Amino acid sequence: MRFETAEFLKNRLPYEAKIAIVLGSGMGRFTETLTDTVSIPYTDIPHFPVSTVKGHQGRLILGKCDGIPVLCMSGRFHYYEGYFMQEIAFPIHVFRTLGVETIILTNAAGGIREDFSPGTLMLMSDHLKFSLDSPLRGANDDALGERFFDVSDCYSKELRQIAKEEANRLGISLSEGVYAYMGGPQYETPAEIKMLRTLGADAVGMSTVPEALAAAHDGVRVLGISIITNQAAGLGKEPLSHNEVLLEGEKAEEKMCALLSLIIRRMEEDA
Ligand code: HPA
Repeated sequence: MRFETAEFLKNRLPYEAKIAIVLGSGMGRFTETLTDTVSIPYTDIPHFPVSTVKGHQGRLILGKCDGIPVLCMSGRFHYYEGYFMQEIAFPIHVFRTLGVETIILTNAAGGIREDFSPGTLMLMSDHLKFSLDSPLRGANDDALGERFFDVSDCYSKELRQIAKEEANRLGISLSEGVYAYMGGPQYETPAEIKMLRTLGADAVGMSTVPEALAAAHDGVRVLGISIITNQAAGLGKEPLSHNEVLLEGEKAEEKMCALLSLIIRRMEEDA
């Protein structure tokens, strides 16, 4: 199936990209900074799932960031929408098939660490996942990767170093932290957040980990960056709301876009 989708995209996309980016909630505007863009709605792509969440447009956009080709998913797939983990991972397998070597995963997340106020950017150093389900469950595609694969460097140390250096250059603070993956769609309970903190989580969200695991399996390097859009449940005064998440995501978008551009340039230089 991935070959059919990759073939369709090869025919529709005028040039190749080695870097792919998944844009999380409120991050859709990054693609407006690109040149030479080609945009394909997910609904046109054979075997692609279709995104249903507000703030996720559901388009694959190829463009150039400072002259460097990038393939962007504007809108991603979440487990809570009803997709299987394998469906969430499918675009990553397709990207690998198309020759993508590095993937940048962005997301909105709730801050668990005390000093993570809304607007903070967090570099994902690792994750916690409680669900026993895996995007790699089922027959293994040996051409993509091994049945049992290592995830001890799932979020590439080398790419994190680049991100830290470029954030420094921009004067943006970029903390590293552990992202706890929760299925949603309900936000967490205050007791769950206490548990996550005890277990070593710094932020919490409902995405990214399935894609990161698929990338790790396929030998694609991953960089994960979270925008902290709210204090996690029980830590702030206000109830959690998706609108707040979108609003804070948009507010942080500009610095996130600036950071992404610099990181992409460095990846190209270091390649
Ligand atoms: N919890 C889970 N997912 C999220 C949150 C949160 O607090 N904020 C943004 N995405």
